[in-house]
Amino acid sequence: MDTRKTEVKQGQDLLTYLREKGHRLASPCGGKGVCGKCRVRILEGERTLNQPYPGIQGITLDEWQKGWRLACKTMMNEELVVEIPDMWNTDANILVSGDYEVTLQPCIKKIYLELPKPSIEDQTSDTDRLLRALGYGEILDLALVQSIPDIMSEHDYKVTAILHDNTVIGVEGGDTTGTLYGVAVDIGTTTIVGTLIDLNTGDEVGVYSTLNPQKSHGDDVISRIGYTIENEKGLQTLQQLVLDCFNRMFDYFEGRFNVPGRNIYHVNIAGNTVMIHLFSGMPVKNIASVPFQPAATHLPAIKAKELGLNIYPNAVISSLPMIAGYIGADTVACILATDILKKEEYSLLVDIGTNGEIALGNKDGLLACATAAGPALEGAHIQCGMGGVRGAINKIEINEDGICHSTIGDQPAIGICGSGIVDAVAQMRRTGLVDPYGRILSADEASESLPAALVTRIGQYSGKPSFTITGKEEGAANEIFITQKDIREIQLAKAAIAAGIQILMQEKQLSFNDIKKVYLAGGFGNYINHDHAMEIGLLPSELKGKIVPVGNAALTGAKMIVKSRGYMEVAERITKMTKYIELSSRWDFQEIFVENMEFPENR
Ligand code: FES
Repeated sequence: MDTRKTEVKQGQDLLTYLREKGHRLASPCGGKGVCGKCRVRILEGERTLNQPYPGIQGITLDEWQKGWRLACKTMMNEELVVEIPDMWNTDANILVSGDYEVTLQPCIKKIYLELPKPSIEDQTSDTDRLLRALGYGEILDLALVQSIPDIMSEHDYKVTAILHDNTVIGVEGGDTTGTLYGVAVDIGTTTIVGTLIDLNTGDEVGVYSTLNPQKSHGDDVISRIGYTIENEKGLQTLQQLVLDCFNRMFDYFEGRFNVPGRNIYHVNIAGNTVMIHLFSGMPVKNIASVPFQPAATHLPAIKAKELGLNIYPNAVISSLPMIAGYIGADTVACILATDILKKEEYSLLVDIGTNGEIALGNKDGLLACATAAGPALEGAHIQCGMGGVRGAINKIEINEDGICHSTIGDQPAIGICGSGIVDAVAQMRRTGLVDPYGRILSADEASESLPAALVTRIGQYSGKPSFTITGKEEGAANEIFITQKDIREIQLAKAAIAAGIQILMQEKQLSFNDIKKVYLAGGFGNYINHDHAMEIGLLPSELKGKIVPVGNAALTGAKMIVKSRGYMEVAERITKMTKYIELSSRWDFQEIFVENMEFPENR
């Protein structure tokens, strides 16, 4: 907990104030007062503490009386002492790896040159002298041209040219060919992961991972688009948050691995279309409404200095191409990393993150769709849900004797993350605590057929049955339970993904037998129990035995491009060979979605 006394501006809401002061509070609904996640405890503040209980989401009457409030709905009209839960500051369990092999051939290279000095017989200009020695190339940057004469004369015409393909992007004095680094980054809606790569050896020097700081303005892309629409400077705010995060990453690389930012010459990013737009400052408002068009599917050539990134000023900032508003550079990177466009056999790729992206096909072409799975499978919009951080329940076993669970980092439980929720729902269904329609049985109903060890855990939340996973008496930091609404959220998410898979299969006229491999990308894909995912109908049980977890395949795809320039062409080919299916325009989507809401029969 972080407790501090502070000066306040009259009438400002506490969430906005705390954000401005650099506190990171979960706020999946972006401050609308509906997610119940921005909880803080008021320790001092008479008027605030004496307000009557309004019956709000996320705070019980008992908690209200103990001073718990939603920061977004707490107006600061007096001096307050506030306790801020530390959940955001715990170490996140972020998936950073994935296997791949490439031949090292980066698009950035350095060439050391010992140039003939100018003389009365050779009055060639400095830039032409450089290009003549290289034998090719061009210089497009005025500031670079301005700097070349001094660099050459100060270093006795011994210089290193830095090239991006055929363009000279920099000149350094002396021989600096030994220091050449690139960074690959996956900008996820929830997490950001970057890998520092030595472009002389291909070695991955280090990894930086953190939660996406834009989370304080909403957990999903729709909330963040909403933030840019509702706030005049919203787009700039969200862009700056991610750019600052990049600069913290570069500082970390310098401090931890002794690689200063000035030695980083290429940054390649993967991310969904909204994340790439926000990173580059492109407007996202049109992605939220029909016909969902992005501003661009390709980033223009960007120099680091244009974005204020603290690396080599002319370092190249690139992104994998995007396909549509909801099929972005991350999906292209996953397709690249799994190589499914080269295979004869049919493959299914499912990237379950804050959204669900699905691709299906083989060497003849792919179909792709995005499902509004929502962030429930990452723990958001779940009453006791949280991301995969220390203290999150990540595995649960329910049987007639009761419940066992484990937490990330073996810490006292403070909430439940996506893999834990899938475990809980699958086994609540298997034991009969939940019926096929997703209804949690009341204690009276359950007592007729279920053991007392489970029935005693059935309680009430918001007038509906809930099921307790653990509580303080079992060593948890607080009571952790599954509500009826949580089950509905999971049903909505799993139905969206299952419907997406079904529609792509129908379009391709494929049966489950035709699909040879199912690549599960993303942290969630790596951590969930596949059997439980099939038990709740998140993945078709007919695909059992074909699942291949591929880790953070989006980051893998981004790294492949940093290491080997030819992969950008492959990525371009992927965009041309992938047909996007807009599910919301399909007449049959709603019907298939509703069919998938029920849980499969227990086997
Ligand atoms: S309830 Fe406050 S941010 Fe969602």
